[in-house]
Amino acid sequence: MDRITIVGGVPLKGAIPISGAKNSALKLMAASLLSAEPLTLENVPQLADTRFMAQLLASLGVTVEWPRLSSTAYLEAKEIASTIAPYDQVRKMRASFNVLGPLLARAGHATVSLPGGCAIGARPVDLHLKAFEAMGADILIEAGYVKAAALRGLKGATIAFPFVSVGATEHAMLAAVLAHGDTELRNCAKEPEIADLAACLNAMGAKVSGAGTDIIQIQGVSSLKAARHAVMPDRIEAGTYAIAAAAATGDVLLKGAQYEHIAALMEKLKLAGVESETSPEGVRVRRADAALAPVDIDTDPYPGFPTDLQAQFMALMCRADGVSTIKETIFENRFMHAPELTRLGANISVHGSEAVVTGVKALVGAPVMATDLRASVSLVIAGLMAEGETTVNRVYHLDRGFERLVEKLAACGAQVARLGE
Ligand code: EPZ
Repeated sequence: MDRITIVGGVPLKGAIPISGAKNSALKLMAASLLSAEPLTLENVPQLADTRFMAQLLASLGVTVEWPRLSSTAYLEAKEIASTIAPYDQVRKMRASFNVLGPLLARAGHATVSLPGGCAIGARPVDLHLKAFEAMGADILIEAGYVKAAALRGLKGATIAFPFVSVGATEHAMLAAVLAHGDTELRNCAKEPEIADLAACLNAMGAKVSGAGTDIIQIQGVSSLKAARHAVMPDRIEAGTYAIAAAAATGDVLLKGAQYEHIAALMEKLKLAGVESETSPEGVRVRRADAALAPVDIDTDPYPGFPTDLQAQFMALMCRADGVSTIKETIFENRFMHAPELTRLGANISVHGSEAVVTGVKALVGAPVMATDLRASVSLVIAGLMAEGETTVNRVYHLDRGFERLVEKLAACGAQVARLGE
């Protein structure tokens, strides 16, 4: 299995182009199932997860034209050839579950494996299923599969989510665009990926308004048409490299990053002593070789501090001059990076959903591994700060969500390499 080695202590200087957002692209790709006409997506990141979604869509009948080096994917679902997403596919990538809503809306039925838990928590899908039931679908859970049917079509409904869920908001939108009548979604997630999904659906002829606010209104339409849409820049990738630049006392332009998408992070970085400025090209992040101040964070739904940047920020705080507290409020088990950071010499104690990080004078490189994508990249960031060589194993986690990670860091001077077995 491939691994990444990093020799720490080298400042990062240069520009990093920010790729299209994985977590947006996956839902936009699923949207192709809604229409018999082609959906052309630009700025699609070449990642293990997006490739995997393309394969799943192809197995459902979508014609996919997406050359290996291209960021433009052409997806055409003239006919739905299968309405089944098997366990093996949903187990490998939870976002596969997102084909359920579009299949149900377009074909009137679907059988999709329940995703099950994952390394960061139990992650149930009850809110997704309740939304489909409110739209008139019959849902049966049998042998680990969700069997959903709405043979005469879905009906518009008013759905108030009991708490904010990105996935449930998006999934309900994906189904409601083809429902008979109007749908109102309340207590919606406000992540920028949701506004991106609405923009794409509207380009396809859907009638979605309010995305990015608490209440989303959708007027159902009978069919959708051909469209072209560019995936938004990946705010988590941008935030990760902002933290990497801070960690490595760097000066990096995050090309294409949108400041407002990462404002919660940038405010915390400012408190830590990291400077940033916006320009038409993106966001520039700079840290002089001075001590980092300790900063507390609580993760929260957007516009709060993203859970997907928590591990990376924790890595940074390992070298702060004092004690910081990191509270995870979205997922119940998202501190698996803490023991690995400790192997590099960090001082972290975890108490339930709270981690206390006491900054240390130095981290020292070591072999490490992590169990999920963001945790893995937090170890890369720690490696940039550590003395000597850090080896991050299980690189396949990084391949799921960071396009050309090694190349992007190396182009800014990092001593980083990918090694095969
Ligand atoms: C999305 O997951 C992202 N994944 C996650 O990114 C991200 O961490 C998360 O949103 C929060 O921002 C994708 O977009 C593919 P939620 P999602 O529904 O939609 C609970 C990454 O590293 N919940 O907002 O699954 C759930 O267990 C990934 O790229 C229910 O209880 O997140 C969690 O505690 C990791 N029932 C909370 O809500 C439900 O039906 C928020 O989850 C749905 C969710």
